[in-house]
Amino acid sequence: MTKTFYVTTPIYYVNDRPHIGHVYTTVVADTIARYRRLMGDDVRFLTGTDEHGQKIERAAEKQGVRPIDLADGVVRNYLDLYPKFEITHDDFVRTTQPRHHAGVEAIFALMQKRGDIYLGAYEGWYCTGCEAFYPENQVENGRCEQGHPVERTQEESYFFRLSAYGDKLLELYRRTEEEGRPFVRPRTRLNEVRSFVEGGLNDLSISRRTVRWGIPVPGDPKHVIYVWLDALTNYISALGFGGKDPALYERYWREAPDATVLHLTGKEIVRFHAVYWPAFLMSAGLPLPTAVYSHGWWLFDNEKMSKSIGNVVRPGPLLDAVGPDAIRYFMLREMSFGADGTYSHQALIERLNGDLANGLGNLVSRVVALLERETGGRVPDPGAADPPSVLALGDAARASFAAYRAAFDRYAFSEGLAAIFEFVGELNRFLVREEPWKIAKDPARGADLRSVLRACAEGVRSVAVWCAPVMPGAARRALAQLGVPGDPRPGELATWQWDQIPGGAAIARGESLFPRADPAETLARIRALEETSAVSDSGPTPPPKAPLPPGVAPEAKAEAPTLAPTAASSPAPQAAGLEQIEIDQFMKVELRTAKVELAERVPKADKLLRLIVDLGGEKRQIVAGIAAKYAPEDLLGRTIVIVANLKPAKLRGVESQGMLLAADGGEGPVVIGFDRDVPPGTRVR
Ligand code: MSP
Repeated sequence: MTKTFYVTTPIYYVNDRPHIGHVYTTVVADTIARYRRLMGDDVRFLTGTDEHGQKIERAAEKQGVRPIDLADGVVRNYLDLYPKFEITHDDFVRTTQPRHHAGVEAIFALMQKRGDIYLGAYEGWYCTGCEAFYPENQVENGRCEQGHPVERTQEESYFFRLSAYGDKLLELYRRTEEEGRPFVRPRTRLNEVRSFVEGGLNDLSISRRTVRWGIPVPGDPKHVIYVWLDALTNYISALGFGGKDPALYERYWREAPDATVLHLTGKEIVRFHAVYWPAFLMSAGLPLPTAVYSHGWWLFDNEKMSKSIGNVVRPGPLLDAVGPDAIRYFMLREMSFGADGTYSHQALIERLNGDLANGLGNLVSRVVALLERETGGRVPDPGAADPPSVLALGDAARASFAAYRAAFDRYAFSEGLAAIFEFVGELNRFLVREEPWKIAKDPARGADLRSVLRACAEGVRSVAVWCAPVMPGAARRALAQLGVPGDPRPGELATWQWDQIPGGAAIARGESLFPRADPAETLARIRALEETSAVSDSGPTPPPKAPLPPGVAPEAKAEAPTLAPTAASSPAPQAAGLEQIEIDQFMKVELRTAKVELAERVPKADKLLRLIVDLGGEKRQIVAGIAAKYAPEDLLGRTIVIVANLKPAKLRGVESQGMLLAADGGEGPVVIGFDRDVPPGTRVR
């Protein structure tokens, strides 16, 4: 039986146009949806907008428009943007739609029938930013845990007996963890949620009397339903729950083992999804989702990218400058899914030039050009016997494919992409080793030539199919050049095997898959586009802050470092006898700050310390040859700099996942430090 897979994004508030934080969750959901389709699942992918509540009511009031007009404008933004990113959602739900209204009324009625809803009075804090009630102990200096201002609120309210669900929720977390498919992922979030529930749950206020913009409480329209109960129900209302035709609901809203329901969320809203939502569903007697996966935040200037801080990056200029595939790839490769990631235009351009232009794009061009020249523009048929090097390449492909699948199955996208690019590297090395252009000169080796070139074509085909969930456009273009046009078929990944490319396929050389982007020019172009869109934007929400020219504003934050001029205008370091490198060679080295959380000597190695460092959410083990000058306690709590993208290496049998930077003078190592606090994971340039 085909498995169903239902994947959702949070529904986005309509007080802001999409920024790349929102795009990120949608791109992740799209990648999962595409991957599962290629794995043969029956997939449904939902996204949409959260349009009710105090936040939207106030934002509309401030702009002097009706809430629905505000919502319509932002929805148009999303609908305009999604095709540009090749988002393949099956449905876009709006909480102002009648179908949603019906779903919310239906779940409310079921919860009421269970006896879980009663009328009372709420007195406490309310945060409009989070649309959440906060108890006294979670408010500090008039702000909630997210840093938004809170307001004292006192009103009659309907309550949900959340306190009755603590044990059932703990049991859910325990059981699913035991079964190896935890309800809350990753583990850090599960621990957080579990201790929140263990701390004891209060009943939850689920209606507002002082808000008008919402769905009225059935039978008591003085109240509107609390926006989170309203919003969370989108996941089932969009499937027809509470409506006349529940066919989709019955098909997708089912429990394991033959159905998966996956909610993706940012980490700030995990509690709503992992505590309130399952409790509502339990109360209503409805099936539960399989898992809530909460990812980290994109940070910009070390803070969460958000409208209230004003540090958001809009997708439009990036799309114009580098196209959707590079952005999608960057998002999934750069951010270790679940942890925070730092966004910078420079990092995006580096990924484009390093992995995509030099790595993948270059490989495709070389292979296609070779086939065109050496085999008359046709993919050779399989031969009678492949040489050992070709057989070994097939083995490498199978190993990369297995690693990629294992990683994607557990949503470790960065790891999965690394496995694919490991094989891209392998293919490039294969070409260099085999030198097919030389084989071609020897008429006696025709069979070898065909075998080697067929393997190259198959290698590129495989990489294209594997990459398709992440870079659908590039995959399509690569496959077209190999004479197998179109998107990979549903189920194609599930049945992928080495050496399946059709012999005789006609090579159609096309444009380079990823032309190299001049770093300085591209950066300047993005900045210029950002300024234009900021100036021309008189839309429903304030434009992003246009970058100020350095030195103009007295309190302007230090700009992210601009790319330095290249050799033409810089003083020549050859004077000191040093070899010059290009800026993008330097940019390939990921220097990051890291906080030392543990330091100890490596047994039987006088010079080595083993450190566990925090890289901003990710932990790494570093082995450093500094024990002659530093005791473990000298390092503990210090912020150091490491090379974060160095291949792991073993030192005295202990794996080092990076390299600590230190000045290397005659007196022994001196570890690099900072003259003020820098958060772990910050880029160093
Ligand atoms: N409307 C609620 C969600 C209701 S779901 C039933 C909401 N909306 S939101 O517009 O604020 O969108 C929040 C989501 O956008 C986050 O959970 C996350 O998925 C995404 N992101 C917003 N900013 C982000 C970053 N800076 N980084 C990564 N994702 C971010 O909350």
